Amino acid sequence: MGINQTNHLLPVPSGLLQIPAVPTFASTFTDADTAPIYFSLVIPTYNECKNVKSIVEQLSQLLDGMIPGNYELIVVDDDSPDRTWEVALSLTPEYPQLRVMRRSDERGLSTAVIRGWQASRGEVLGVIDADLQHPPETLLQLLAEIQRGADLAAASRHVAEGGVSDWSVVRRLLSRGAQIVGLIVLPGVVGRVSDPMSGYFMVRRSCIAEKTMNPAGYKILIEVLGRGDIRWIGEVGYVFQERKEGESKVTGKQYIEYLRHLLILRFARWPMGKFLRFGLVGFSGVFVNMAVLYVLREIFNLELTRSLILAAELAIISNFFWNDLWTFGDISKRQPGIKQRLKRLLKFNTICLMGLILNVLLVNVMFNILGMNEYLATLIAIAVVTLWNFWINMKLSWRVTEVDS
Ligand code: GDD
Ligand code: MN
Repeated sequence: MGINQTNHLLPVPSGLLQIPAVPTFASTFTDADTAPIYFSLVIPTYNECKNVKSIVEQLSQLLDGMIPGNYELIVVDDDSPDRTWEVALSLTPEYPQLRVMRRSDERGLSTAVIRGWQASRGEVLGVIDADLQHPPETLLQLLAEIQRGADLAAASRHVAEGGVSDWSVVRRLLSRGAQIVGLIVLPGVVGRVSDPMSGYFMVRRSCIAEKTMNPAGYKILIEVLGRGDIRWIGEVGYVFQERKEGESKVTGKQYIEYLRHLLILRFARWPMGKFLRFGLVGFSGVFVNMAVLYVLREIFNLELTRSLILAAELAIISNFFWNDLWTFGDISKRQPGIKQRLKRLLKFNTICLMGLILNVLLVNVMFNILGMNEYLATLIAIAVVTLWNFWINMKLSWRVTEVDS
């Protein structure tokens, strides 16, 4: 088995970060090397020459006991200066289920994992750190979760049996802080697991196949949860071990990358069509507001404050009808009846008035406290309030009942 393979690096997939539904193979491999298998485990490495032998050894021993001949280990190395890829390659004669990829055009933990999965032939795809901070034994429990029917099984520091070995208060706070930011920006993704930062998990190929991935930075699990079709999630506790060899690659830059990643995913999940319609309706409201104001002032000679309030209220009601019929028409159809419609109008009205207050507050803060130009401040406030109005109204007034985002 695998005579040709031993001296060969695995070809690096290029193009979109998309995992095929059925594995595709490079012609350099023999039939035995291209047969489908049950489990593919990617081990991303960067300067892990001192750890790679030991992790391969431990994983092989464990998996040989559980699913002999039915798994592969894929080291994906980003052309490490310490030549981790070379060390890994030298292990392949002894471990025929080991494959090695050396990337030089692309970098980064998350894309390394996806490139590894793209070249894999497993039905279940996993990832584990190379530095032995993820205890290999936990793999057995993770595999058991998948065999029970889970779509995704994640190792977690934050469930029973889980934890970190020797972390400072600052490090714990940073880790939890990142999780809370994630919960605010992407509650429907980050909130699905207790440890969204985990880089130790496995997922069924079918749940992520043919999705175009676009991860930034380190947190591959968030990408998988954000883009995949994942229903059943199993979690297994583990204790994050201390690193004995080599060093962590986490720098301050990773926090920025993490935020960028959250925002990319947020944007990808944003219902663009509805948002554009909502914006157009809002824009039409400006004209309703101005026209009513003109009529009240010039024809009815009404006092200014009353005219302003009435005009704004009529614009809100007009906006409501357009949004109810057009922007969120698909949802209103499922909640018919005059009573339901009035309820939506009441919610919409309340949220818009709160938006108005928010607008005034924001302009005041930016203009009076931050000393910003008042027109710029107004423009920013309008943008923020539009986002707020759209989001809260979608969540409360025209609530989608089946799937939460
Ligand atoms: N190919 C590749 N390219 N591998 C990388 C890169 C890269 O740019 N950066 C890091 N790695 C590899 C490392 O060699 C290691 O095997 C693994 O990815 C994790 O990197 P570490 O630098 O050791 O990360 P950590 O221990 O600080 O961070 C871990 O945080 C989580 C818990 O908060 C992550 O690695 C998660 O997996 C972990 O669960
Ligand atoms: Mn580590």
